[in-house]
Parts: sequence; C-alpha cells; structure tokens
Amino acid sequence: MAGASARPASIRLIRPDDWHLHVRDGAVLRSVVLDSARQFGRAIIMPNLKPPVLTTQDARAYRARILAALRQAAEHAGTETPAFEPLMTLYLTDHTSPDEIRRALDSGFVHGVKLYPAGATTHSDAGVTDLLGQCQQTLAAMQDCGMPLLVHGEVTDPAVDLFDREAVFIERVMVPLRRAFPELKVVFEHLTTADGAAYVTEADGPIGATLTPQHLLYNRNALFQGGLRPHWYCLPILKRETHRQALLKAATSGNPRFFLGTDSAPHARGAKEQDCGCAGCYTARHAMALYATAFESVGRLDRLEAFASLHGPAFYGLPVNTGTLTLHRVENAIPPELPLGDDVIVPLAAGESLRWMSQDTE
Ligand code: DOR
Ligand code: ZN
Repeated sequence: MAGASARPASIRLIRPDDWHLHVRDGAVLRSVVLDSARQFGRAIIMPNLKPPVLTTQDARAYRARILAALRQAAEHAGTETPAFEPLMTLYLTDHTSPDEIRRALDSGFVHGVKLYPAGATTHSDAGVTDLLGQCQQTLAAMQDCGMPLLVHGEVTDPAVDLFDREAVFIERVMVPLRRAFPELKVVFEHLTTADGAAYVTEADGPIGATLTPQHLLYNRNALFQGGLRPHWYCLPILKRETHRQALLKAATSGNPRFFLGTDSAPHARGAKEQDCGCAGCYTARHAMALYATAFESVGRLDRLEAFASLHGPAFYGLPVNTGTLTLHRVENAIPPELPLGDDVIVPLAAGESLRWMSQDTE
C-alpha cells in the first residue's frame, strides 16, 4: 500500500465495489457490464429502467439478465467471466408496500430501495411525490428490517435554483425524514456539495454517502469549457470548485461514511448531444483510474482502498471482497468514444489522459 507522499509504480487494492451503478438493459447492458465487472466485485444496481424495477420479482429477473449479459460479453471479448455480484435495488413509489420490503429482504439479493423524487432525473417520473405523506408505513418497515434507503437528494421544486437543489433537499426532506425514522439506514447518493458533506459528517444515526469520480475531479466550469459540454452533464449537476474540494476532502478523510459509487450512467452519444440532452456520465470503463487520479491529486492514494473496498461493505453489512485489483501508473488515454450496442458512447474525460490504469481483477 502506498504511503501518503509516495509515488508508487503500482498499487494493489482489495477488490473494490461500486455502490451506485446504472447498467440499463438489453444491448446497452451487454456493452457496459464487463467494464464494471473487470474492476469491481459487486455493484449496487440502480432500478430506473423503463418500466422501473418495482418488485422483488422484477429484481430477480433483472439480476438474471445482468449475469447472462456478463457471460455473453465475456465470451464475446474472449475472456473468462469475472466473478461479479449485482446487488439489486427496488424503485420506491407512492405505492411500494411494507410487504414488498419484507419480500425484498427475504430474497437475499435486494440490498436497498431507491428514492427518486418524481421528476428529479432520468426515468424518475414514477418516483415519489410526497415521501413523508405517502411512504410512512413502507419507511417504517425498512427501518425495522434494516433495508437501506438510497436517496437521490434533490428537490424538484422549479422555484429552487438547479445548483441549490441538494442543499435545499437537506433541510426540506433529509432532516425531517431522519427525524421521523432515526434508525433508518440512509445513503445520500452522489453527493455534490459542501453542505451535503458537512451534513453526512455531522448527522447522528446510520448514514453514508457515495461520491462519483466526476464530482471529485471536475467543477461546473467543465460544463462550459470552450462551449457547451454535454458529456459532463449529470444530475445532480457539477457544482463550483469550493464544493469539489469539500467532496475530495470527505472522500480522502478516512471517514467510513463516505464510499465509492460511480453513478456511471450510459447514454448514447446522440442522446446527449441534442437540444434536450440526457443527464449522466459514463465512467465505468475507467472508474478506478479516475478515482486514483483524484486521490493522488491530494496525496492520499493511501486512503483509496478504504474508500473503494472497505467502507461500503461495512455500511451494507456485507463481507469485504477476497480478490485484489492492481492499478498501474501508466499513461491512460481515454478514447473519444466506445461501442454501445449498435451505437457509440463518449466516456467521461474522453480525449484526456489519466496517469493510472487498472488491470483485470485477479
Ligand atoms: O446524471 C444522472 N443520470 N443522474 C441520475 O440521477 C440518473 C442517471 C441516469 O439514469 O441516467
Ligand atoms: Zn444514479
């Protein structure tokens, strides 16, 4: 393991996990799933398909499709199928029942329930309209059985400035929610602000947060660098530099509440480069290289393993992975585009060069 100031030629980590991932379905799923499985032992799979993953039954079928797609992708690539466990989630609606929560828990393969405030982001139209009004009993069941609530933490009120929606969510939703359900396990997904990092650091009770590579590496200037840059557009949107620095500080602090979640969210090039482009950055292919670059920028490569491989399993009550992943210090040019089914996708940082490259999991 690297010391804080060393510049090692390679680092070997306990095999990491991705605690927030979109893999979609069908041809897109087959194109992206191997990118994650090459680096990560497990991933929390987001349920915002169309139609969404609403029930344990839906999650069981989706899990089987992910594993089948992984086998096909590995065969196509001429590699062995990596061991990879999709950790499934349900999509919370105004109508999710307490019984469904108990079924999910009993399944052993559902590890969280995702809150999308209706209208907040991609495929969130089936999401929750009034969390504390509509979902009381379901939240109580989740609290009782230890099922985590994974939160897209942005208000949807059009009167609130887009850049303030996370901070306003904390006061309007997160604080009342956690006051009503103090033992509910909550993950504040893809934190983007200093306000969020401070809240998660100081709050009482079981709370964690995921941090994406784009929010650790870029501020909102990236969206406008020399013109409009749709491939840096995700939700919650990139914020100003002070926020990025607070997030990087949280990620590299060693605080076990902060862990890795890429929010890799594939959209074909054409779906992003248009008059109303989709939100989401594709980071799965270079995820660990991106995180290593961010951690090294503040001389804290020594804290990467805990963030990527230890804090998440501790929060979710799962064992730490047994394998390892090696990252090498080599020039890693990010290609301008990658195949995505019959289409193409532009990965985050396309055209840039990273200093790290991950080797297939041993
Ligand atoms: O940028 C995003 N993309 N944010 C989300 O919350 C959803 C995701 C997606 O599914 O494309
Ligand atoms: Zn997401």
